[in-house]
Amino acid sequence: METHGLFIDGRWRPSAGSGTFETRNPATGETLAVFPLGTSDDVDAAVEAAQRALPGWKRTPAPRRAGIVLEAASILRRRKEELARTVTMEMGKVIAEGRGDVEEAIEFLEYVAGEGRRMFGETTPSQMTDKFAMTVRQPIGVVGCITPWNFPVALPAWKIGAALVAGNTIVFKPASLTPLGAAMLVEVFEQAGLPRGVLNLVTGPAESVGAAIVEHPAIRAVSFTGGVPSGTDVYAKAARLLKRVQLELGGKNPQIVMDDADIDLAVKGALFGAFGTAGQRCTATSRLIIHEKVYDATLERLLAGARALAVGNPLDPAVDVGPVSSSQQEEKVLRYIGIGKEEGARLLFGGEKLRGGSMDGGFFIRPAVFEARPDMRIAREEIFGPVLAVLRARSYEEAVETANDVPYGLSSSIYTASVGTAFRAIRDLEAGIVYVNAPTIGAEVHLPFGGVKQTGNGGREAGTEAIKEFTELKTVFVDYSGRLQRAQIDG
Ligand code: UN1
Repeated sequence: METHGLFIDGRWRPSAGSGTFETRNPATGETLAVFPLGTSDDVDAAVEAAQRALPGWKRTPAPRRAGIVLEAASILRRRKEELARTVTMEMGKVIAEGRGDVEEAIEFLEYVAGEGRRMFGETTPSQMTDKFAMTVRQPIGVVGCITPWNFPVALPAWKIGAALVAGNTIVFKPASLTPLGAAMLVEVFEQAGLPRGVLNLVTGPAESVGAAIVEHPAIRAVSFTGGVPSGTDVYAKAARLLKRVQLELGGKNPQIVMDDADIDLAVKGALFGAFGTAGQRCTATSRLIIHEKVYDATLERLLAGARALAVGNPLDPAVDVGPVSSSQQEEKVLRYIGIGKEEGARLLFGGEKLRGGSMDGGFFIRPAVFEARPDMRIAREEIFGPVLAVLRARSYEEAVETANDVPYGLSSSIYTASVGTAFRAIRDLEAGIVYVNAPTIGAEVHLPFGGVKQTGNGGREAGTEAIKEFTELKTVFVDYSGRLQRAQIDG
């Protein structure tokens, strides 16, 4: 099998080192492609290329930069099925969600291309006579984008698309589980006519490639999506160089079901939120907090729904839940299922590794439903797999207290028929995203995305915030009075 290249300075080329790694299909174990284990020398070369490309790119008018991003969106649209199948084969999400992943990339690139003709600053009256005051947005410079494996096309597109329209040049390191989706996305930008050096791809481990990006003094900002320990490390290392850092680090997202909720709707939402993408979304529903008055009825329908989920090869359109993404992920999920049992949670359904026939080569786990208590580890720690902890609440207040009593705060949801309860929840839930009568997953790209508490450091991606993430604000005063006017002293 041929080894793919890194993409540096507009060329697909080998790594400075000789190591390689394989990307495999988690449903079958089959090797899909071989990629170079990049080194810090490769990162240096990528940064140098990005620095050389920066002056030309940042002087290219933003609408023209955006034109290339829009062209990338239309190429993606044409190649959607091919990329969707690659996502499904490389990462294991079911094919409808593989298409959704690519669709999310297309929609974001279309949206952010529009920003090329906005990128608004502000004007405001000066306090002095014959003086003009405004702000303009300017690129940061060379930026690093480090992305996870669960959305191999969409999340890189969020970061790269926004960074490009804003006028930055990029060193991009994708997760080592999904380099193929990442390489195809980079190829799409190449086809769209991006000048050489503007976007550079270096595959390889966090310890070498990731660390080199975070610690390279010429990279002025890092956008990272991944786990809390890695994100904390990125933040600490980048702090020493006073870099701009944007972090999105996961969640333990609650869905509340109130006593006046439409139970069937709430159960459909919980099943999709918890077991869509085999629970491997930062936004996945991992806690279902049910009001005691509807607890039994909701649980019964939830279990019936879980029993009906088809687990299997994600390319089969009849399958609801594919494999988890890797053997490490499988080991972690099974370990947490063991922890749940040991700490006294009641496993009501699923949780076993599926074997036999076509399952043998892959990492299939039957979606698990636990009856748990809020203080248990399975109800507090991010598992990133198809494991749902069901919790009981006696009132709205208790439900919200439980919902908020975790270190994370990305997504959240409440099912209720009451407008008052909905608005109280919008006010009270400690989360970056609140859904009313909809599951915790499925955010739309033209709204800001991100969380509070340990989910991040306050930044937001996508939506109206996307450009802010990748620009510096410059404040400009133009004095056309012909006199020295001293603010705070004269007049
Ligand atoms: C993630 O899992 O990091 O809201 C992103 C959602 C998707 C994005 C998830 N639009 O579920």
